[in-house]
Amino acid sequence: MKLLTSGPRGTQDILPKNSYKWRFIENIMLDQAKKFQFKEIRTPVFEHTELFLRSVGEDTDVVQKEMYTFLDKGNRSITLRPEGTAGAIRAMLEHNLHNESLPVRLSYITSCYRYEKPQSGRWREFSQFGCEMVGSSDPLADAEIISLANSIFKRLNLNNISVEINSIGCPKCRAKYYENLKKYFNDNKEKLCETCLARLEKNPMRIIDCKNPVCTEIAKNAPSILDFICTECKEHFKKVQEYLTSANIDFTVNPKIVRGLDYYTKTVFEFVSTDENSKGLVCGGGGRYDNLIEELSEVSLPALGFGLGIDRILLAMEKQNIVIPEADTCDVYFAPLDEKAKTLAFNLSNILRDSSFIVECDSLNRKLKPQMKYANKINAKFVIVLGEEELQNKKAKVKNMRDSSEHTINLDDNFLKEFFEIYTEIEKNKLLGKF
Ligand code: HAM
Repeated sequence: MKLLTSGPRGTQDILPKNSYKWRFIENIMLDQAKKFQFKEIRTPVFEHTELFLRSVGEDTDVVQKEMYTFLDKGNRSITLRPEGTAGAIRAMLEHNLHNESLPVRLSYITSCYRYEKPQSGRWREFSQFGCEMVGSSDPLADAEIISLANSIFKRLNLNNISVEINSIGCPKCRAKYYENLKKYFNDNKEKLCETCLARLEKNPMRIIDCKNPVCTEIAKNAPSILDFICTECKEHFKKVQEYLTSANIDFTVNPKIVRGLDYYTKTVFEFVSTDENSKGLVCGGGGRYDNLIEELSEVSLPALGFGLGIDRILLAMEKQNIVIPEADTCDVYFAPLDEKAKTLAFNLSNILRDSSFIVECDSLNRKLKPQMKYANKINAKFVIVLGEEELQNKKAKVKNMRDSSEHTINLDDNFLKEFFEIYTEIEKNKLLGKF
């Protein structure tokens, strides 16, 4: 078909045959977050650019290469959010949520935008579910956040997910680490990519995160942060591991996890698929960011959180053949055959909808045969045909489309009650295996 234009590269249309899968995953995420007392927040899709420069960090790939930044008509620099944390924290501070009570626990589902090279599981527009907790510096909070994300994977039946954790320390201990890293990378300077060369002085830890294969190879033998963290950070990391172990949460310590964004301190973690068909797919990540809030405001509060990539989680579920319950199908399809019947069908449809049934009524003035064909196509459970005869006798047939049985129903004040009886009798028989 000739079309003016297609959807932009790196975006996807989530069609009705798939959208229920997203709704299913999102509902589980929000429901699990609710159990941990996280409340949903919704923030704008775009923010002032400086918010991301300050929080995500000027030396990160996200800021340097991937942001959708433009000047609006008022000449302000605006950026489509590349992630959810910065906006949620900005909104929390702007509305003083941290002064109401601590900890603040926020959850969100947001679309994010990164100008990346699209490939399987990597989109330019993608969805993140995230949780942010502000106010606690206790390692128990780190374990709780990891435990929440882990419980989501469990409820989704996504078993082959490995929890990888690390500590990247605080600015105090990182100074010594940076010295050693700089020395190490300086010795391999001529092989580093241009971006990493620029990072060498200011932020050498970013080199460990570089996707360039040569830099990755060099970074393999780089010094480990775990050999440099201070006593306090070491103690914190040890406690996090103890809490996770006490909750029977399997994890691996991976000193190579430094995360792609600059705001992290102490604990960082990633959820990586180990399934044969989606090996290495990073379904989510997060960590502590105790210094971010004071970068953005006059307030200093410890905080932590995680973001899960919904697109990737669905991909991992599909690769593992995890069945997502199908969307509810139509309970009743009304097939009116003339104008008078159409008005009655319209009103009876609303009566059933008010009682939570899913109902569709023909609006294309089709003849009976194509209407029945359509009812089959949409998988309607029952069809009620309304014609001249039905209106005259004030009685109609409720056709069960699964076994073609028919039940007579009165088209009067008893309609809803009788429909309930027919419906429950059939559902009961279905449960008893008679259907
Ligand atoms: P992030 O690791 O940049 O962290 O993103 C979180 C997750 O979003 C990733 O693990 C991945 O599953 C998904 N994701 C990232 N980029 C793409 C893409 N181009 N296409 C599809 N999925 C993608 C953050 O964004 C932090 N805000 C997480 C956080 C919250 N840390 C503390 N609180």
